[in-house]
Amino acid sequence: MKLQDRVAIVTGGARGIGEGIARAFAEEGAKVAILDLDGEAAAATAAAIGNGAIGFACDVAADGEAKAGVARVVEHFGGLDILANNAGAGRGPIPTENVQFNAGVENSDPVGWDETLSQNLRTTFLVTKYAVPHLKARGQGSIVNTSSIAGITASPALAAYAAAKAGVISFTRSMALELAPALIRVNAIGPGFLYTRAWEGMATLMQSSNPAFANLTPRDVFLGIVKQGVPMGREQTPEDIGKLAAFLASEDAKNITGQFISVDGGITLR
Ligand SMILES: NC(=O)c1ccc[n+]([C@@H]2O[C@H](COP(=O)([O-])OP(=O)(O)OC[C@H]3O[C@@H](n4cnc5c(N)ncnc54)[C@H](O)[C@@H]3O)[C@@H](O)[C@H]2O)c1
Repeated sequence: MKLQDRVAIVTGGARGIGEGIARAFAEEGAKVAILDLDGEAAAATAAAIGNGAIGFACDVAADGEAKAGVARVVEHFGGLDILANNAGAGRGPIPTENVQFNAGVENSDPVGWDETLSQNLRTTFLVTKYAVPHLKARGQGSIVNTSSIAGITASPALAAYAAAKAGVISFTRSMALELAPALIRVNAIGPGFLYTRAWEGMATLMQSSNPAFANLTPRDVFLGIVKQGVPMGREQTPEDIGKLAAFLASEDAKNITGQFISVDGGITLR
């Protein structure tokens, strides 16, 4: 019970990686609040993980909603110790009109650029901004940001996303230095390939736009990419990410700050 009675916010925790983080926190004794665009799924996931977890609708890319969401958690649990800034990727299945997948920079849509930056970077900034006063009030705290291996690799097919995730790493380092005197640690995780709703959306797009994939399912396309791209030959899971997030949030990591750690089966070694 590394996080006994700690209060934790997990953004985008209704499903996928965020759900893995929320579960790992609750398993270590934390009281978890899930803030997600999908309020129904957030409440259902909170009920499933137990330990008094709550979940409600909150668009953490929207200033007023992020502020109100943090205030609601602090009111409910009486404080805040841990923030997992995980919301990101796209709004549900990636909307085709905003996707810049393999479009080439000259065909990329400025609206899609802005939306991608907002979903992945503005979200991280906003919730951090509103959470920090409450972490300071506790005399210490831990922030764990979900970046991506795309933040440290060149990814022409996903240039906006990669720039946003590199931005998350940079913001992590700046905040780690700013908040070190307040004993608030800030770290980032780089998930590799996980078959969540986000990757399912991308595999579906790849499958339908590439004639070579005509006879494959989106899952087959994903597994092919795993086979080719992951030296250890296996996909990563939300549990993998949750375990690292729980470690980084705990006292076991009390002198670790400003770090980016990949959980990718060796993808970024190449
Ligand atoms: N799946 C992967 O392979 C992978 C790899 C590297 C990084 N990531 C990152 O992990 C994080 C989680 O991705 P996932 O794969 O679990 O995706 P997912 O689509 O399965 O889940 C994302 C969740 O975040 C929520 N969300 C999105 N924008 C939000 C907002 N503005 N406010 C509140 N909630 C919001 C969604 O409603 C959804 O429940 C993202 O930041 C993503 O970029 C994923």
